[in-house]
Amino acid sequence: MLRVGKVDEKQSNLILIPAFGEASIAEVRSVLKEKIKEIRKICDSAYVLRTDSPVWGEIKKLAGFHKIGVVTFEGSGPEALDETVRLFEESSKKNYSVSLYCSPSPHLMYTSLIEDLLLTLRSRKVRRVNLVRTDPGHEIYAEDIVSREIFDIIVVGDDRAKSIFGMTTHVFNTEDFRARSVNRPSEIPKIAMSPRLAKTLVNITSCPPGGLLMDPFCGSGTIIGEAMLMGIDCIGIDIDRRQIRESHRYLEWLRVKYPQVKLGHYRLTVGDARSLEKLIPDQSVDAVVTEPILLPAYDHLPAYSDASRALLRSKGTYQDALHSIGRVLKIGGLAGIVAPEVQTKEGPLRLELESGRNDRLTPILADSGRSYIQLGIQSTRWVKRNLYLFKRV
Ligand SMILES: C[S@@+](CC[C@H](N)C(=O)[O-])C[C@H]1O[C@@H](n2cnc3c(N)ncnc32)[C@H](O)[C@@H]1O
Repeated sequence: MLRVGKVDEKQSNLILIPAFGEASIAEVRSVLKEKIKEIRKICDSAYVLRTDSPVWGEIKKLAGFHKIGVVTFEGSGPEALDETVRLFEESSKKNYSVSLYCSPSPHLMYTSLIEDLLLTLRSRKVRRVNLVRTDPGHEIYAEDIVSREIFDIIVVGDDRAKSIFGMTTHVFNTEDFRARSVNRPSEIPKIAMSPRLAKTLVNITSCPPGGLLMDPFCGSGTIIGEAMLMGIDCIGIDIDRRQIRESHRYLEWLRVKYPQVKLGHYRLTVGDARSLEKLIPDQSVDAVVTEPILLPAYDHLPAYSDASRALLRSKGTYQDALHSIGRVLKIGGLAGIVAPEVQTKEGPLRLELESGRNDRLTPILADSGRSYIQLGIQSTRWVKRNLYLFKRV
């Protein structure tokens, strides 16, 4: 995350605007760990986090958030805007905006907030101001906050009397991640995971710098690349030699692109994820992050029967790979495996991933109580992604 606003060590009440739903919350839990006192969901698009010690160092490591801000006031009335405007005055910025979340009637609330804000600015005789309107929604995006140097006021609330006011302090670093998704070298046309999602998943599995992370379906190496940028050593495996070459090309490109970063080491091997024990010693890997998918590239909404057959075929590979992952993972290590959910003409169909009795893996339930975390970002037009998390016991 990129810092765009003033931060104070004492601030312990933060507003989180997630990009990947409950996966983003899983990320913040893994990265902040016991520093978290409470995470309160206001609605799907905003959470409030209370911490018991400063977390700014950790906040910078997150990837799964559009914005993070500090709470400036909880409640309503003139004090709410007064306090936020005072912070705006202290900043050197000329542009400001209001981003509204969780309101059932956002248009009405946004309009009345802007009116009150203008009155407050006038009464405090603040002149050097330029309101950047949100168009068409009620939220200013991260890249605008950076490029136009905007002081972004966050208002979260389903009810004016209980609104939470804040200011954005960190935004997602769009520029940096765009360089690794759009400008990366590639010879095989493919569907690669976004580096942003890859980094979020690596964070969720809590692999420490210097630890060893494995992607046994590594494709073009996106997950490995993000882990290496975090100082994690990696093993990438793929059954297709061309994909291994593609990964190699990408990871060497990263080395040239980020000379200032101490990258982790990597090893790439052609091999079958269903028999990892032939390639890697038992209990030698700290974390696994992978996205096999293994479905046809649908160019239309598939029929239930076709999707069901395709999912059944790929489920065998998933389950065999899961068993094999259980052998090579160290005790206590986490495996994050992305599995598809296909939209069909007759409704959605999910690949359900279960650990067997011999897999030495225990599932970690999502906050929702489900066996998987919805990632809220599609793989292709008809395929959604779910994350299954397992711990080696
Ligand atoms: C969806 S792609 C992975 C994409 C990758 N996350 C990326 O961003 O580039 C799945 C990969 O799994 C590989 N694969 C399929 N079956 C495999 C198996 N049994 N063992 C290892 N790799 C396999 C394919 O060759 C393909 O490159």
